[in-house]
Amino acid sequence: MSELLEDSPGTVSFPTSFLWGGATASYQIEGAVTEGGRGRSIWDTFSHTPGRTVDGDTGDQAIDHYHRYRDDVALMSSLGLNAYRFSIAWPRIQPDGSGPAMQAGLDFYSRLVDELLAYEIEPWVTLYHWDLPQALEDAGGWPNRETAYRFADYAVLVHRALGDRVKNWTTLNEPFCSSLIGYAAGGHAPGRTEPAAALRATHHLLLGHGLAAQAIRAADPTLDIGITLNLYAVDPASDDPADIDAARRVDGLQNRIFLDPVLLGHYPHDVLEDIEHLGGLGEVRDGDLAVINTPLDFLGVNYYTRHVITGAETSAVGPEASVADEASPWVGSEHVRGVFRGLPRTEMDWEVDPDGLHEVLTRLRDEYPPVPLLITENGAAFPDQVSEDGEVHDPDRVAYLDAHLRACHRAIEDGVPLRGYFVWSVFDNFEWACGYARRFGIVHVDYDTQQRTPKDSAGFYSRVLRTGALPDVSQPDMPKPDSMPG
Ligand code: FCB
Repeated sequence: MSELLEDSPGTVSFPTSFLWGGATASYQIEGAVTEGGRGRSIWDTFSHTPGRTVDGDTGDQAIDHYHRYRDDVALMSSLGLNAYRFSIAWPRIQPDGSGPAMQAGLDFYSRLVDELLAYEIEPWVTLYHWDLPQALEDAGGWPNRETAYRFADYAVLVHRALGDRVKNWTTLNEPFCSSLIGYAAGGHAPGRTEPAAALRATHHLLLGHGLAAQAIRAADPTLDIGITLNLYAVDPASDDPADIDAARRVDGLQNRIFLDPVLLGHYPHDVLEDIEHLGGLGEVRDGDLAVINTPLDFLGVNYYTRHVITGAETSAVGPEASVADEASPWVGSEHVRGVFRGLPRTEMDWEVDPDGLHEVLTRLRDEYPPVPLLITENGAAFPDQVSEDGEVHDPDRVAYLDAHLRACHRAIEDGVPLRGYFVWSVFDNFEWACGYARRFGIVHVDYDTQQRTPKDSAGFYSRVLRTGALPDVSQPDMPKPDSMPG
């Protein structure tokens, strides 16, 4: 994939205030699923259900971060990270999703926060990265409006314990995945394939976001509160009206159904029409949209790739389908599907398209009210191995990060209020339905020994964040990113 580097000459410097971070999520790294009184989550149930994850992998042990967090924080500090985005496992705080907080759960995150602060790493808390308490799913899950209120209660409990030290709060990570993949496509927990329920879940997740944001802001108006959305550049595969309409549908359910209510205070009308036959979003009560539209201090953007969409009945575009294929069951048109354009792909089969990141960022600048932005996830899976020299050489990931950081830089030059970047992920971890078969870390993890080995990309990222600049890889005397010291 080294052709990516052809587009990446020239040293570029980021603003000195730019935040350089790394991201993880509770179920993907913690393990220790029965310790500290932790309850069961929908991901425990899903991963233990035969056929749901690659090789039947579960997060039972993951990378044992629950026990190794001190060493992990020290490692992050040695890389020079100045911010760490992690999520709280709701079932560690409320094993059944309601009632008083479990002290052991709060204590774990409190120790983690103290450790981060001791190393001057800013904690960025995400309240929900998909591990819903199973008891709440048993009561209907996100399609049940009650879950939104339970989420706000839980947010208050976590804030009470950590709010004296944590300034940055993200309510939800990627509600698209929790709602439409979890309840319609079925590829994520809880694995239901009920499009109408998925649409109700969408509204209730957003309502939960707004209720939680208002509740913790009421407790402390000085907090910075945001939400993280996974946004995609979306293009029609051609100027055929069928492709243009299919792309509109995917953009609607992937991007605008979340962006519009959160930032504009209404759902997109065309999407409401597309989903009318499914009962729309279910019951949207008076006042819900005002709650969802509560002001944000930042918007987190997770970016991985672009969707190129066709609506053609038979494919004239290419034989292969892309990730957007998952869309067809719920976008209201059976012919909607993604196509590949022949760009290099990561091991997830996601095309590498840094221009799409620039496009997403400038779209936010142009179509929505101004809000500070952070890239809360960006990264790539490749089949990394420990080499004979004991190191992990991952030139493709270095090239991916270099190219996407250049896209960020261009966006800043174009006036986008981008304040920081969190690489996904600090460590290799449990990649949901893909289990341990996909490695996204800049630090390699041997799952048998739990040994951590920083990859070349960790060396690259560390150098970038220490200098605040991407080196000019076109100069003969400059090291190429892939040969930088790890
Ligand atoms: C995002 C998730 C994150 C990780 C990356 C690869 O959708 O938020 O947990 O799985 O994808």
